[in-house]
Parts: sequence; structure tokens; C-alpha cells
Amino acid sequence: MTDLQPIYFTRGVPATESFPIDDVIDSAVSALKQHGAAILQYGPSLGFTPFRQWLAEWQGVQVDQVLTGNGSLQLVEFLCLVMLQPGDLVFVESPSYDRTLTLLRRHKANIVGIRLEADGPDIAALEAELKKRAPKFFYIIPDFQNPSGATCSAEKRRRIIELADQYDFLLLEDAPYRALRYRGQEEPALFKLAPHRTLHMSSFSKLIGPGPRVGYMLGSPDLLTKIAKAAEDTYISPSFLAHGIAYEWCRRGLLVPQIEKLKGLYAPRLDACLTAIDSYMPDAQATRPDGGFFLSLTLPDGAQTTAVRAAAATRNLHLSDGLAFFPDGGGDRFLRLPYCALAPDEIDEGIRRLSETVREL
Ligand SMILES: Cc1ncc(COP(=O)(O)O)c(C=O)c1O
Repeated sequence: MTDLQPIYFTRGVPATESFPIDDVIDSAVSALKQHGAAILQYGPSLGFTPFRQWLAEWQGVQVDQVLTGNGSLQLVEFLCLVMLQPGDLVFVESPSYDRTLTLLRRHKANIVGIRLEADGPDIAALEAELKKRAPKFFYIIPDFQNPSGATCSAEKRRRIIELADQYDFLLLEDAPYRALRYRGQEEPALFKLAPHRTLHMSSFSKLIGPGPRVGYMLGSPDLLTKIAKAAEDTYISPSFLAHGIAYEWCRRGLLVPQIEKLKGLYAPRLDACLTAIDSYMPDAQATRPDGGFFLSLTLPDGAQTTAVRAAAATRNLHLSDGLAFFPDGGGDRFLRLPYCALAPDEIDEGIRRLSETVREL
């Protein structure tokens, strides 16, 4: 056994030191004092109304265009219950978020992966698939994608919307990392460009923390009402207590300074990761994101992720299974590196161990 310190490049969790614990305590006390009866009670399945109103104002939409849920992932589950029959076609980026792939598989969706490039989905591949058949929806993570770190260009966003209009399918835009841009210019959200075509989902998991389970969807009131019915049949109403606390925290104006704090914490970690890759692994192909939680590597020719992962574990370096992000094969040399929960010196040491492992193999 090794006595090296363990380093985990596994799940994309926030840094524990980012959690605004004191502010959440104050917000909880205040939320209970002001809304105690409402947030300890069952309520409408669309969510705690003051929180939905706050989200609507923040996002520039009407309150009936907002649905809140216990985290955002489960809202995809409810969407699948409402929209999908076994065998229905769903497009995803390849690679894509592994938990959504698992969920789609559980609903027996026919999943087709559209190859992802550094600036978003390969449009020629998307068009070729559309000529065969249109999907029920295209699940897309346009900003600082999990797992690759890629951000979709404005040009591709516009083309994807044109295609969605032409072939009549829904865009499911998953944007939990969108607010975490450390540099560069924001691209327009699909929902802003095409609200009629898009169901936008996001989350406070990466802003406050995943513990309270606060997620939301923006979309057409009709579809959200159907999704809320599936939610009601599952849990009656979402956690009003957690959402009441999140509401109070937002109402106090704490979101913007928290985002700035997160950027200050995470930007140097991204830089540490890129610097270490450039110095230890210049022959690996890395994505170079401007924000978010992840970057990804394509290992040099001949190196296989599965073997690298096993060998890295003997150096107490823990990596996630790159293959799990690919809906229909591929990814033999793909590695996702979530850097946010690691200090810069751990990142440097982790990449150094990774480069040693790859060289040895
Ligand atoms: C792309 C993406 N979508 C959804 C989620 C889950 O978010 P939530 O905690 O709101 O369910 C994650 C979490 O890592 C994610 O990366």
C-alpha cells in the first residue's frame, strides 16, 4: 500500500469551504420566523410561491414559468415520466452527464449521442441523425459542460434552435455551471434565444451547496404543470423548508456576492489544473474551459483510461470512469478532471501522479 495522501478527481462536488454556513443559519432563522407555518406545511407542487416569484424576477420570466424541485436532476425524472414511452428517441451530447444517462436508460429511452466538440455539439452529426428521425428532446449542457468542460458557441446555439424548430423537438438545457464563469464573455442561454423550444434547468447545488436540494426549471406553464403533477404524485410537495431558507438567502442579496466568492476560490484551481497539465502532460489533449467545475483530457495514443485508472489507484490517485459518460461507446482515452474541491497544490500533485502513471503504462 502507498502512504501517499489520497487525491480524488472523482465526483464534481463543491469545495466544502465554499459553503455559506453562517448566512444559511441566519436565513433559516429568519425564514422560520417569517414563513414558519407555510414552510413546515405541505404546499403547491410547483414550489414555495415567494421563492418562485424571486426566481421569476431574477430570470426575467413570469412566475408560472418557474417550477422548483428537490435538486434539478429529479425534475428530469419527472419530465421523462410525462414525455417518454419506452423506445422514444432522446439525443444527448457524447460525452454527457452520467447520472442523466442512467436516468434516461431507466426510462428505456433510445439514446443517441451527438459527438461533442470544443465549441459544442458537432452540427453535421446532429443534422445526419435528424435526417433519420427527430428526438422527443435533446439534452444539452451548453455552459462548462459536465464532463468535458466545453461551452457551446453562440453560432451553434442558434443553429441548434433552427434545427429544433425545423424538426420540432424540445431542447432540455441543463445549466448548473452557467453562473460560474471565471473569464471571457457569456454566451446567450438557449432559453433566452428560444423560450418556446426550451426547458431550462438549473440548481443551487453549486451555488449554496447540494445539501438543501434546490433546483428549478423554466419553461412553458403547460409543460411545467404536467411535470409538477408527476412531482406531486411522487413527493406531494418539494422541501418547502429548504426552499424557504434558500428564498430568504436570495432575498437578502447574498447570491451575487456568493458567486463572486466562488469565482475567487475556483478560478485559481482551474489555472492550477491547466498549468500542471501543460507542464507534466503536454501530449494529452485538454479542454480549456473559462469556468465551471470540470476540464477533460484525451490521453495520449496508446493510453487507455481503464488501465490508467487502475494504475493511478495504486498511487492513491482516484479517477472517475471515463466510459460512463458516453451513451453509445467511445471514451477509451477520456478522463474528466473535477478540480473545484481540490486545493491548487493537490491539483498539481494529482496531475503529476497522473502523468507518471500514464508514462509508466
Ligand atoms: C450537468 C448536471 N446536471 C444536474 C446535476 C445535478 O444537480 P442537482 O444537485 O440540482 O440535482 C449536476 C450535478 O453534478 C450536473 O453536473
